[in-house]
Amino acid sequence: MKVILASDHGGVNLRREVAEVLTELDVTFEDAGCDCEESVDYPDYAIPAAERVAAGEFDKAILICGTGIGMSISANKVKGIRAALVHDLFTAKVTREHNDSNVLCMGERVIGPGLAREIARTWVSTDFEAGRHERRVSKIAEYENK
Ligand code: RB5
Repeated sequence: MKVILASDHGGVNLRREVAEVLTELDVTFEDAGCDCEESVDYPDYAIPAAERVAAGEFDKAILICGTGIGMSISANKVKGIRAALVHDLFTAKVTREHNDSNVLCMGERVIGPGLAREIARTWVSTDFEAGRHERRVSKIAEYENK
């Protein structure tokens, strides 16, 4: 599995935590920034990362900003992206099993590093259940391709 990881200035610290988790899990990942502490614009990080997932260069992305909301709104504009904004362990698991989410978004100003690390670990390690969920996810793709 290949993961691209990115954040704006509001998610730098949590991004570092998630990078540690991916390293622990032996997941191949690229850290796409931002490298700065000054203010940047979240779409400038969310959209290129999501495009690289949609293009097949990466299997998944993990995107972090202050709330996770800007990242999720931006990523979900990219065709083929199913970005889930997750701040608890239950939805981290179920969004992989049911929605086959390919982007995980979290907010550094919403949850602490311990929970964020467990969410990342759960999300990366949980498989899509397919079955009846395949039909539902396909309907999203059908709408995108209309
Ligand atoms: C930046 O101040 C903040 O708006 C951003 O990190 C994010 O929370 C947007 O959704």
